[in-house]
Amino acid sequence: MSIDVRPSEDAAKYLATDQLVWFGEVTDSDAEQLRLGLPQDQRFVVDLPDGPDDLHSGIYGVRPMEMSLPGGSVVPIAGLTWVGVHPDARRRGVLAAMMTDHLARTRAAGTAVSALHASEAAIYGRFGYGSAVLTHQVDLGRGTTFTAPHLEDDLAGTTTHLVDMAAPGVTERMRACQLAVAPDFPGTIVGSPDFFSLLAHEPPEQLRDKERRRVLFARRDGRDVGFTGLRREHKWDNARPSGTVVVGTLCGDPAARLALARRVVDVDLMGTTKLENVGLDDPLLAWIGGPRSTGSLQTWDSTWVRLVDLEAAWPLRSYEADCDVVVEVADRYAPWNAGRWRLTASSAAGSATRTDAGADLALDVAVLGAGYLGHGIGGLLRAGLVQERRPGAYADLARAMRTAVAPEPSIGF
Ligand SMILES: CC(C)(COP(=O)(O)OP(=O)(O)OC[C@H]1O[C@@H](n2cnc3c(N)ncnc32)[C@H](O)[C@@H]1OP(=O)(O)O)[C@@H](O)C(=O)NCCC(=O)NCCS
Repeated sequence: MSIDVRPSEDAAKYLATDQLVWFGEVTDSDAEQLRLGLPQDQRFVVDLPDGPDDLHSGIYGVRPMEMSLPGGSVVPIAGLTWVGVHPDARRRGVLAAMMTDHLARTRAAGTAVSALHASEAAIYGRFGYGSAVLTHQVDLGRGTTFTAPHLEDDLAGTTTHLVDMAAPGVTERMRACQLAVAPDFPGTIVGSPDFFSLLAHEPPEQLRDKERRRVLFARRDGRDVGFTGLRREHKWDNARPSGTVVVGTLCGDPAARLALARRVVDVDLMGTTKLENVGLDDPLLAWIGGPRSTGSLQTWDSTWVRLVDLEAAWPLRSYEADCDVVVEVADRYAPWNAGRWRLTASSAAGSATRTDAGADLALDVAVLGAGYLGHGIGGLLRAGLVQERRPGAYADLARAMRTAVAPEPSIGF
């Protein structure tokens, strides 16, 4: 049975389906606010013939976003989000139909890459998404010392300033700052202005006893050079203040990040600083002397990347080593990518061309997504997730795709 996926025509039904799937508290908060950053024409639905009447059988949405790639280009991507299937309609192929639809629409729109944050790690590999960025969550004690002798000169003129995220002009400043540093931090995903407004929109049911999100800006020479979002949480232990300050992604040049890091481990009434989004090669761990200087460190997947159009995506980024390999690509959900490709990188520039030559490697398109932002994929051969037919060919590919520094994690979307 083929499943029809079509644009949403009923914004209230679309939101109500999402609220059933995600079982959040439903209030009379302004529905348009909740859908910020998800344009009307980027919401899609499935209604199975025997599905529920009052809600959709499935929904998904696409945020128009930009992502920086190795080499510094910043390209449009489809930010897949709001994926949900009604509990009565699950495991009947609704998600598979929506993924097929998403990939075809994205390709038709001329967008080469789709990206997402996965609710569960087992869902998206089968649809050709690779886990492309890992992130740490790090707890630091109050007064943690950061050592970075070669940044101190740059740091000298950097000041930090705390503001409300919802104050006028703040999200615009955050976005401008993120766009400015994105080329130097591949993997950075920059949302639309509406998406930033969504970050600052905190309805009462999300707040309860919490303070509103604040933003700490780093400034130098009269301009913003970095920021992070944060929120303080109260706690008293035996009459001593021991709250937690929860800190989002640190954005900015290295000296700006150092200024922000020093400030967030020195907040009155707080005992712990929880940094929720620290890249694998983020300077933070080097500044403190490694993982044992943290209170706790956990690692998980951040951005998942899908090459929607392999031929268009391959040359968008730069490469740090040369390679020339013929790859048999399997792609069940985007058949235009399937088949044999000659993937080359020479003097940083890449090209992907169809070929009839014998394949050096056979792999799923998800492997190329996993390596697309520079994350190391060399281990996938030993893991048995790649087949090598010419010895050394996979190492050539993995070396070309890998970057000296691991890619940046992204803010959840
Ligand atoms: C995850 C979800 C969207 C799956 O939708 P669905 O319509 O049941 O999925 P499908 O029937 O199209 O399944 C397609 C394939 O994915 C597999 N799959 C689906 N969900 C999976 C999961 N959570 N873990 C592992 N495999 C999963 C199915 O077994 C099926 O495999 P097959 O091709 O080998 O038969 C649905 O369970 C849901 O809405 N979950 C809650 C919200 C959520 O997590 N959304 C994702 C946001 S990132």
